[in-house]
Order: sequence, then C-alpha cells, then structure tokens
Amino acid sequence: MDQNHHAEICPATRPRRFYDCTLNEKLLYSSFLLLAGLAYLMALAYLYTSFDNIDGKPGLSVEDIAENYYGNRSGTRLESAIRGPMAGYIETEQRSHIVKWLKSGAPKQAFARTVQPILNERCVKCHSAKSGLDIPDFTSYEGVKQVANVDTGVSLHSLMKVSHIHLFGIGLVALGIGLIFRFALLPSWLQHTLTLLPFVAIFTDIAAWFLTKWDPVYAYTIIIAGGLLGLSWALQILISLYQIWFLRCKAASGSEDHA
Ligand code: HEC
Repeated sequence: MDQNHHAEICPATRPRRFYDCTLNEKLLYSSFLLLAGLAYLMALAYLYTSFDNIDGKPGLSVEDIAENYYGNRSGTRLESAIRGPMAGYIETEQRSHIVKWLKSGAPKQAFARTVQPILNERCVKCHSAKSGLDIPDFTSYEGVKQVANVDTGVSLHSLMKVSHIHLFGIGLVALGIGLIFRFALLPSWLQHTLTLLPFVAIFTDIAAWFLTKWDPVYAYTIIIAGGLLGLSWALQILISLYQIWFLRCKAASGSEDHA
C-alpha cells in the first residue's frame, strides 16, 4: 500500500449536477424516472383494488389494512352465537372463558381444559348427534372447530415471502431513483433527507406489517410509512425531471456552487 490519504489532493471541482450530464444520460434518467413513477402508480392502484373491500365496506380504510394483517378475531360464528341467539344458555363468566379461548386462536390443548366442560354443561343437550337437530356437534373439538375458526389475517409465511420480495425490489428501485437524484442541486440537508427517506419508509412499512399482525393499531404506521415513501419518491422524481430539462448552469465558469 503506497497510497496515503494525506497525499491525495482534494478535488477542486464541484459535484456533478444534472446540467453537466450528456443528452444521452438525461434521456436514460428521464425514461427510468417516468417508468418508475408509472410503476408506483400501478402499485397504488393494485393496492387499492386488493385492500378496498376486506372489511366489507367499500373504500380503502385503516380497518381494511388492520384486518388484512391482524384478521377479524371476533368474527367466529361461535362468538356471535354466544353473544347473540345462544346467550341465554350460558353465564357471563363462562362466556368470557370461551371468548378468551377464541381470541387465542382456539387451540386444542386449552379446549379440553376450559371449554369442553362448559359446552358439556350448557350446550350438548342440543348440540350433539343424539339430539337429532341439524346443528353443530359440540361433543368433539373437531365439531366445535367448525364454528371457531378465527380469521387471524395473512399468514406469517406469506408475510415473509412478500417482505423479502419487497425489500429486494423496492430497495433496488430506491437505489436507482436515488442514484439519479444525487445530481440534483438542493440544500444538502434536504437532499440528504430525501435520499434517506425512502429507505427508512420501506423498512418501517415492512416492520409494521409484522407488528400489525400482532396488534392492529400499527395499521396506522403502515399508512404513514407508505405515504412517506410515495411523497419522497414523488419529490425525487419531480425535482430530478425538472432539473434535468430546465435547470441551467448560472455562469459558464461554473463557479456558483460552493455549497
Ligand atoms: C335448547 C337447545 C340448544 C342449546 C341448549 C344450545 N343451542 Fe345452540 N343452537 C340451537 C339451535 C336449534 C340452533 C340452530 C338455529 C339457530 O341458529 O338459531 C343452534 C345454533 C347454534 C350455533 C350455530 C350458529 C351458526 O352460525 O350457524 C352455535 C355456534 C351455537 N348454537 C352455539 C351454542 C352454544 C355455545 C351453546 C351453549 C352455551 C348452545 N348453542 C346451546 C339449540 C341450542
């Protein structure tokens, strides 16, 4: 290693700007930015049409997002029955035991311990094959399970799949847009902020998917992070496109920029 940093001469030239780029570079950058912008709009449209109706109400809302990741955990037929038409057959305390069991995902172990005794005492005189009624049979776990399926939202496995695709894919797009945007002429605090923001937003967004699976309140984080990603990309793309085609160097000597 005969190189040493002290011997290096600091470059006296200012950083490259869009007006230093060749026409060929400008065409390449503009095309990529336009395509990335279009892809982003398409992703938004796709997002809207696939999330829009999850909660049964039209229009994309925070409830749709929460329900996609967290699920609708009060949505079992068993719970609505013991809160509704079957409420008269059960005591309040027993009901809360069953609701708690349902919310925890209706596991088999806890069934025999806490739920089966209640059902045996209160429900099986009607809810069994012997009664001859065509209603769910509560003498076995399998019979109860049919009305106890809890919607816990998208599975962890498919979240991992979508996350890694997004992290790689969006990461590369963010790098592409950022590499172009570095030629923009802006106050450096603004340029640094806008450069970092998409990466922070993607990370937060995807972390929030997992958090929302755990607690639906994080659906708000997903919306805020998604909004920040869109905003920072929109600014990077629009500022770049504007400066590529309209910003001129002030003086031919190029001595205006000492920022
Ligand atoms: C006196 C008889 C009787 C008892 C006791 C009874 N049920 Fe029912 N249950 C019915 C009948 C009849 C139906 C079907 C008609 C209906 O849905 O109202 C039914 C329907 C249901 C359904 C199906 C609802 C659906 O979405 O299809 C559930 C779940 C249920 N009962 C739960 C319970 C639970 C839990 C208990 C005990 C706390 C209980 N039932 C006690 C008679 C009974």
